[in-house]
Amino acid sequence: MKIALLGGTGNLGEGLALRFAKLGHEIIIGSRKIEKAKQLASEYLEKVSKASITGMQNEDAAKECDMAVFTIPWEFAFDTAEKLKDYLKRKIVVSPLVPMKKVGDNFVYVRPEEGSAAQKLATILTESKVVAAYHAIPAKRFANLSEEFEWDVPVCGDSEAKEVVIELTEKISGLRALDAGDLSNAYLIESLTTLILNIMKRNKIGEIGISFR
Ligand SMILES: NC(=O)c1ccc[n+]([C@@H]2O[C@H](COP(=O)([O-])OP(=O)(O)OC[C@H]3O[C@@H](n4cnc5c(N)ncnc54)[C@H](OP(=O)(O)O)[C@@H]3O)[C@@H](O)[C@H]2O)c1
Repeated sequence: MKIALLGGTGNLGEGLALRFAKLGHEIIIGSRKIEKAKQLASEYLEKVSKASITGMQNEDAAKECDMAVFTIPWEFAFDTAEKLKDYLKRKIVVSPLVPMKKVGDNFVYVRPEEGSAAQKLATILTESKVVAAYHAIPAKRFANLSEEFEWDVPVCGDSEAKEVVIELTEKISGLRALDAGDLSNAYLIESLTTLILNIMKRNKIGEIGISFR
């Protein structure tokens, strides 16, 4: 599958790029700047042998892909979605977006009036199949290919697209994808991720994922 990581030059984008590339998927790193996309694509390629990772501007990445992941900070993801929506029609679009803000030293979930960031994305990308996943994956550990973990990935969305994302995710060693219902449940995993960040910070325990075992 051709998978575009929009804003794939950042924290979560790297881990998803490396781990999807290892499975043999064609990876497109999207960026606002073509030079940055190409630079990061070649850096990621050095970490995974015999992989297909190319860099493009977000627009071209959205045009070329079969599936896209919005690995962009939530504040900017919706404007980006407006710009890319024509290219993403009929495609699966994954939202790992965690809308939150810092109040003092506390992370607070910012619930969009649509119900969740994933639902807000779906109201923009009306002709795409939006699925919510990957919220509670700690990016730095995930991007380290020698890291070992056993994390669960709740996945929300309509059944057909959700099944594709579940199947894709299950193939990543150390991840178990779990059907978490339709998109109306996405706020639960978005807000849980905010709680996890507070727990990490207050207890100084570094990056943790989630496991329901
Ligand atoms: N970090 C984590 O551990 C983690 C875990 C799970 C889910 N998430 C979610 O995943 C998403 C990405 O998080 P991240 O930590 O990977 O983000 P990030 O590293 O801070 O940023 C990712 C990329 O977003 C692009 N970007 C920045 N400002 C932008 C703007 N104004 N318009 C368009 N693109 C912009 C940049 O790419 P270019 O400069 O190349 O365009 C940047 O490299 C967030 O929504 C977050 O909630 C993060």
